[in-house]
Amino acid sequence: MRFRCITFIAALILAASCGESDESMCTRVFNLALTQYKAMDTLLGESELPRTTENDSLITSKPSWWCAGFYPGSLWYIYLQTGDTEVKALAEKNTHKLYQETQKARSHDIGFVTNCSYGNAWRITGDTCWRKPVIDAARALCSRFNPAVGATMSWNTSPKRPQWKYPVIIDNMMNLELLMEAHKLCGTDSLREIAITHARTTAKNHFRPDFTCWHVVDYDPDNGSVRMKCTHQGYSDDSAWARGQSWGLYGYTMMYRESGEPEFLKQAESIAGALIPRLPEDGIPYWDYDDPAAPSTYRDASAGAIMASALLELSRLSTDTVLADLCQKTARRQLKTLCSADYLAPEGSNGHFLLRHSVGNMPGGSEVDVPLTYADYYLLEALLRLSGKL
Ligand code: GLY
Repeated sequence: MRFRCITFIAALILAASCGESDESMCTRVFNLALTQYKAMDTLLGESELPRTTENDSLITSKPSWWCAGFYPGSLWYIYLQTGDTEVKALAEKNTHKLYQETQKARSHDIGFVTNCSYGNAWRITGDTCWRKPVIDAARALCSRFNPAVGATMSWNTSPKRPQWKYPVIIDNMMNLELLMEAHKLCGTDSLREIAITHARTTAKNHFRPDFTCWHVVDYDPDNGSVRMKCTHQGYSDDSAWARGQSWGLYGYTMMYRESGEPEFLKQAESIAGALIPRLPEDGIPYWDYDDPAAPSTYRDASAGAIMASALLELSRLSTDTVLADLCQKTARRQLKTLCSADYLAPEGSNGHFLLRHSVGNMPGGSEVDVPLTYADYYLLEALLRLSGKL
């Protein structure tokens, strides 16, 4: 163990001093992931998935938590990079934990849960046994679509949030990937149409003239009119909550890749053009771009990792060569920071997560400056994109 720690620290020092290549950075981080994620599995009960840490100890979630798909998804990514058969078995086991979740859309999060687990299992192995839950979940998600609004509802109405009638959050752009994947699998056009309509409605109502976005838009379910634009996890209603901006960037980039509709490429390019100049030097956003306490406030590594993954994809898709180059350079800068000792945890620490310093819900006072399962997932995805494996 002591020897491994010394090796890891030596690798970090070497990386910092001699300008590590992309390939060696990927290898280094995936080797760490292989060890950390295998160790993490030994701490999980039959129906438990990793969520975050408290005092460096692992906190788990039930399969119904919105983040439950990211651990199996990360295991699939580690398998894709390493070909390790033990990790494949863990990916299978942890994916199966989520089967019930693919059958009923309690919220829009069925998209995150299913696409990261079953979706990656299908895309990475090509084994047809993984396809049906993807199609089932997409059909379940469509039951949340209201044509009067032109969007799927994110959260159910609840006495805890009496102010909203039909809340749609920017995060929901991410769930459209499930619909587009299922459309490819079963050919049902309505899945694609619902995804495209949702993306168009969101572009129209969530975005400000400067291409930052609100977190929540609440609609009147009877006629689709906008009732309210506000935040749930951001600094203020009119601020740019960092992870929300990353979800938007990723969502429109993905929707262009999947649909070929040029309006989505334009939207993604405009979002990237708005966010990149607002990043701090090392590329990792503060948890909210408009927190007046910056620089004396928290970074959100998850927002940085999601953004890096999206920017690499956008740099591949954009025909604007200047912007594509800027996206590529920014993503590299972000990954260099995330893969440095400032963010990447030493082996055996951090509840076996990779990244430190994410923020889940600052106004709610939960998950502040901690590891989060999705920060790791998007870091691994971005590294796979960097090395051309995705
Ligand atoms: N989807 C919830 C979040 O990004 O925190």
